[in-house]
Amino acid sequence: MHLAHFDIARFLATAWQKQPLLIRNPWGDWANPLEPDELAGLACEAGVESRLIVRGRAGLTLEHGPLAEDRFASLGADPWTLLVQAVDQHVPDVAALIEPFRFVPDWRIDDVMISYATDGAGVGPHYDQYDVFLIQGLGRRKWRVGPRCNAATPRQPHADLALIADFAATGEWVLEPGDILYVPPGFAHDGVALGDDCMTYSIGFRAPARGELVEGWGAHVADALEEMPDAAADRYADPDLPLQDHPGEITSAALDRLHAMALEALADRAAFARWFGQMNTQAKYPETDWRPEEPADPAEVAAHLAQGGALRRNPAHRLAFIRDGAAALLFADGQCHAGVQPALAEALCGGALVLLDPSLAGTPGTAALVTALISQGTLVLDHGDDDDDDWAD
Ligand code: SIN
Ligand code: CO
Repeated sequence: MHLAHFDIARFLATAWQKQPLLIRNPWGDWANPLEPDELAGLACEAGVESRLIVRGRAGLTLEHGPLAEDRFASLGADPWTLLVQAVDQHVPDVAALIEPFRFVPDWRIDDVMISYATDGAGVGPHYDQYDVFLIQGLGRRKWRVGPRCNAATPRQPHADLALIADFAATGEWVLEPGDILYVPPGFAHDGVALGDDCMTYSIGFRAPARGELVEGWGAHVADALEEMPDAAADRYADPDLPLQDHPGEITSAALDRLHAMALEALADRAAFARWFGQMNTQAKYPETDWRPEEPADPAEVAAHLAQGGALRRNPAHRLAFIRDGAAALLFADGQCHAGVQPALAEALCGGALVLLDPSLAGTPGTAALVTALISQGTLVLDHGDDDDDDWAD
């Protein structure tokens, strides 16, 4: 499926991170990629993050998965929503839904969450910290969108859910299958199912908070400094100590020196690039473990590549690359591989199935890198006999 009627450049210029946008069925051929009962099945599996939100007389109640298989039969007439996170890691046809949105780089993409709702159900008015494309997959949903919110926006009292109080909609639309609502971070939204069998696919993004960056990078730098041979001696020094007016003062000159010590240690951009690539590609749900029992055999890998064999990517592993002079750093599942040919990094970050160009497949170093990626569980050799409908096992 692809976005046949969608102007990406225009969307980025006018809507992305700026304002909500209703995109009426832009697909040439929308087909709902997952059946409701398959979604319900996923919600019963351990290792799959799911939530059930029921709208009862006393308001919304939240239950976390995995759900017992008989839970759905006991739900009764109250409207309910089932939400399942990262379904793209379990269902290839759902992973394929991300592809049309890769005009936003992979490192900004989080996962595909799917909701299933009965008539009148919804998760209540709220806002998210991240951009989201809400694709109506099956049935109909009425979406109301409100103004940009922040931490000061009044909340409804609720133990488990962050719901906006006094939600005042500025726009309202009924979405039919294939329609998409784009909502930037912070904008209030509230979707209510019109009729049963309402499925919504949320293509969710991520963006690091400054606090996370400072905390993570700072801890990394501190660890690296501790590893230095004479770490204990790398400290504030004042052989030029002047007499000062009052012993209680931390002078501006001392502060300048202290501040510079801290900032200089954090300023190494090349080290930051490595750290960020590793941090950003860590798996959110590492349960999908493709590591072989025996380390991969480089000769077997080289032979497979020489025969034009393809590689398949672990759907739970995140990949990204950073150009580094004439080479690239390839990041896969939190590991950094340096000195990679940029064309090879591009090919490996291309998609779920990787077919290397013969010139790349035969280059010295390619088999070694692919072998390392197989051993760490990021890739497997594709023998063309995989059941494409089932990654889960
Ligand atoms: C839903 O699919 O019901 C909720 C999705 C969202 O608001 O982010
Ligand atoms: Co939301």
